[in-house]
Amino acid sequence: MGFSISHGKSMDVTGWGIDQTQLPPFEAGRINPRQWFALERQPLPLDLEIGSGKGTFLVQQATASPQVNFLGIEYAAAFWRYAADRCRRHNLGNVRLLHTEASFFIRNYVPDAAFRQVHIYFPDPWPKKRHHKRRLVQEPFLRELHRVLEPAAQPGHGLIRLATDHSDYYQWMLQHAALAADLFEPLPFESPASAGEGELVGTNFERKYRREGRPFHGMILRKR
Ligand SMILES: C[S@@+](CC[C@H](N)C(=O)[O-])C[C@H]1O[C@@H](n2cnc3c(N)ncnc32)[C@H](O)[C@@H]1O
Repeated sequence: MGFSISHGKSMDVTGWGIDQTQLPPFEAGRINPRQWFALERQPLPLDLEIGSGKGTFLVQQATASPQVNFLGIEYAAAFWRYAADRCRRHNLGNVRLLHTEASFFIRNYVPDAAFRQVHIYFPDPWPKKRHHKRRLVQEPFLRELHRVLEPAAQPGHGLIRLATDHSDYYQWMLQHAALAADLFEPLPFESPASAGEGELVGTNFERKYRREGRPFHGMILRKR
């Protein structure tokens, strides 16, 4: 991680970054994440990205889809700052970046049916067996995501979109999706509009790992 990703440039997250210290106490109840967007944009569909890293997916997809709002969550402060500064420089009024831990935020702050889609690209694989319990994608969390997703009544609604370069984590995702089969139907992955030629999603990690020749796996879970 470290702070070197900024290469000495000063980062300004004003207007784009929301720090967890700005959240009300979670005991006060759930909040409306649409409040972070300009009033005229609040009725638009809202997508969530968990683990935005340097914000490449957000910049690309928000540029390609101006009629969708995107909330990115990133818990590493240096990446959060980098991604929020980047979205500010691109003047993307349809993106906001929240600095917090995603599971805690979703469980305690997010109301039911808040998001059109949830994007989780290249989540940390936690390869050691004793660390598997730290993996983000697991059955209880899928149940929580089911709660915060809109129904899949229209195309493109009620979807979790997952990608990983880690074959063992992919098998784990399949197993946990099967445990939540009452809630989600698995579908083949379809790349977002912003993906480049031959790319699955086109995130920073994907581009780095592609140069290393790693295989990629993707999956979509549609809310039942
Ligand atoms: C392997 S990186 C992938 C980043 C980006 N999605 C990409 O593909 O380039 C995973 C990112 O997720 C963030 N992250 C992992 N678990 C998280 C959580 N529970 N809440 C918020 N961010 C998380 C990490 O800090 C890291 O930046």
